[in-house]
Amino acid sequence: MNEPLLKVKELKTHFQTERGWVTAVDGISFHIDEGEILGVVGESGCGKSVTSQSILRLFDEKYTAQYDGQILFNGEDLLQIPLNEMQHIRGNDISMIFQDPSSSLNPVYTIGGQVAESIMLHNNVSKAEAIEKAVALLAMTGIPSPEKRANEYPHQLSGGMLQRVMIATALACEPQLLIADEPTTALDVTIQAQILDLISDLNEKLNMGVMLITHDLGVVAQMCTRVVVMYLGQIVEEAEVNALFSNPLHPYTKGLLQSMPHLEGPRSEKLHVIEGSVPSLNNVPQGCRFAPRCLFADETCLKKAPVLEDIGGGQLVRCWHAQKIKEEEEGAYVAT
Ligand SMILES: Nc1ncnc2c1ncn2[C@@H]1O[C@H](COP(=O)(O)OP(=O)(O)OP(=O)(O)O)[C@@H](O)[C@H]1O
Ligand SMILES: [Mg+2]
Repeated sequence: MNEPLLKVKELKTHFQTERGWVTAVDGISFHIDEGEILGVVGESGCGKSVTSQSILRLFDEKYTAQYDGQILFNGEDLLQIPLNEMQHIRGNDISMIFQDPSSSLNPVYTIGGQVAESIMLHNNVSKAEAIEKAVALLAMTGIPSPEKRANEYPHQLSGGMLQRVMIATALACEPQLLIADEPTTALDVTIQAQILDLISDLNEKLNMGVMLITHDLGVVAQMCTRVVVMYLGQIVEEAEVNALFSNPLHPYTKGLLQSMPHLEGPRSEKLHVIEGSVPSLNNVPQGCRFAPRCLFADETCLKKAPVLEDIGGGQLVRCWHAQKIKEEEEGAYVAT
């Protein structure tokens, strides 16, 4: 069996804060195969961005951040290599699309110049060749009149266009792995769809693996084969997309799915939202982290933390009641 492209094992990311050390990502394990799109979902603050930025070791390890565990990329542990080698991997093998496009582009350089720069950093090509390749990449991301746009500055482009430029920059090195952190947040629906189409096209053409972080379960259903659901720094469920949508087993996943707007549902239907809010990292519940908000919680849940367990068919769930919920749902299915 082939080694996965990325295998994250028991990753922990700790931060030093004014109130002491906190563990924002607490023992996460998952993998991404070559050519696979993995979805990562969960409410705001559950650790999606910290996980993705930890893979690239973007936090300040000297003063404020510390990692534990393993991040195996093509079998090599990225947490063990010197930071200058990490720099090389960042631009060549793993690329990232950040949540906020404006922060990752330099306002004083032209769009084309920035994409070309990224190409020149990683390929032995002349400036003219790099600019030609940059224009081709901008065209590939669906930017109209790419030759003209290449000469413009970031402030001359709309949010959707900037997002495409960032995608072009991220793809300039033809990465084996693309990490896309909410690549379509804050974009209008039409542009969202175009950008997602573009990512799936490139995923097929380049056979690159994609870690797709999103709030939007509709996007997961459309794009991904497998999905991990995060809650308060941990994975609470991992499953094939079809299994997750047809048979979510963690009460948190069920809550997330119920909070999805149903297009075909009656207009007046009230959106179900999960009661309560995510506890702070300084105040992590002692037992199951979701227990204070969970309708299924009992004494055990409040006292003892459940582990992530295979409930069958490769569906992993971190819940004391997962087996019971599964049996009840199978029973209900047989009865109807
Ligand atoms: N540099 C840091 N120092 C201390 N705590 C941090 C740091 N970066 C993130 N955190 C904390 O880690 C937790 C996870 O944050 P993260 O940004 O990963 O959430 P997220 O799932 O990406 O949320 P969103 O959906 O809003 O983007 C949060 O509680 C956040 O406050
Ligand atoms: Mg985030």
